[in-house]
Amino acid sequence: MNAQWLQSALDPKGPKAEAFAHLNWMLIVTVSVIYLAVIATLFYVLRRASRRPVAFDRDSAVEERERVRGMTRWVAIAVAATVVVLIAFVFVDVSTARTITRVGGVNPLRVDVVGHQWWWEVKYPDPDPHNYIETANEIHVPVGRAVLIKMTSGDVIHSFWAPNLDGKKDLIPGHETITWFRADTAGVYRGQCAEFCGHQHAHMAFLIVAEPRPQFERWLQTQRTAAQTPTDSLAQAGERVFLSGTCAMCHAVSGTSAGSNVGPDLTHFASRRTIAAGTLRNDAGNLASWILDPQAIKPGTKMPGNEVDPRSLNALLAYLGSLK
Ligand code: CUA
Repeated sequence: MNAQWLQSALDPKGPKAEAFAHLNWMLIVTVSVIYLAVIATLFYVLRRASRRPVAFDRDSAVEERERVRGMTRWVAIAVAATVVVLIAFVFVDVSTARTITRVGGVNPLRVDVVGHQWWWEVKYPDPDPHNYIETANEIHVPVGRAVLIKMTSGDVIHSFWAPNLDGKKDLIPGHETITWFRADTAGVYRGQCAEFCGHQHAHMAFLIVAEPRPQFERWLQTQRTAAQTPTDSLAQAGERVFLSGTCAMCHAVSGTSAGSNVGPDLTHFASRRTIAAGTLRNDAGNLASWILDPQAIKPGTKMPGNEVDPRSLNALLAYLGSLK
């Protein structure tokens, strides 16, 4: 996978992830200081204890009382410091919660995400049904606008996690959950399922593509169009292979007779950067391997292997490559 798509909660690209990173660093610094203070105190008392004479006589009873009083004072100071630190963190916690709530904004872009073993169905609802679009494993968002994601699952519990932009949120079968974020810097950010969901949990990634508004609008317009009918003969042959073979039993390509929603919608398949939910880069070689033997790449995936002769495979690759 491309190094530029590495994910990191310590490299925030939006206000929500920034608030989490801030809280994280505060906790790390505070507990580090406390840890160092505790260890230093431990060494100090060990050194002091080793120097004190072991035997006590009656004359030192007064000294002993003094010593206990001194210890009690230090314990009281430590308890008070602990309470102060805990109360301070309650305030920091509440202020972080207020910050992330505000990120939701007034007019967020709504995106619906459905988790599947092991891929992400992504939908952009619109009051006008002609504008409704569906894609997979790649979520495009405009920079600077809040995004509200409504989520559910088609099978087991998954967790949506794009650490550069947002915290984790579970996708639960038969139940709707929401999360929201805003990307302030354009870029491609990797996300990952963060709840063990079976064999290929580790191969359930997605990309969030944050683009300047005009570029996002162009993407949206393109996605709203039906698939282009191929013009060259190889891609036309590929379309016939696609529609008459097993592909169309699970996948949809709008504008054709393929309308199944078992697997990802492929209407604008060639516009996506990865295949198999972030597992492979979307190029002809990887696609050929995936079509022939997906079980070798993602054992347990719902997509079965396909016995396609080389000519049909070539045509199929040309057709899928034309679905821009
Ligand atoms: Cu889906 Cu882990």
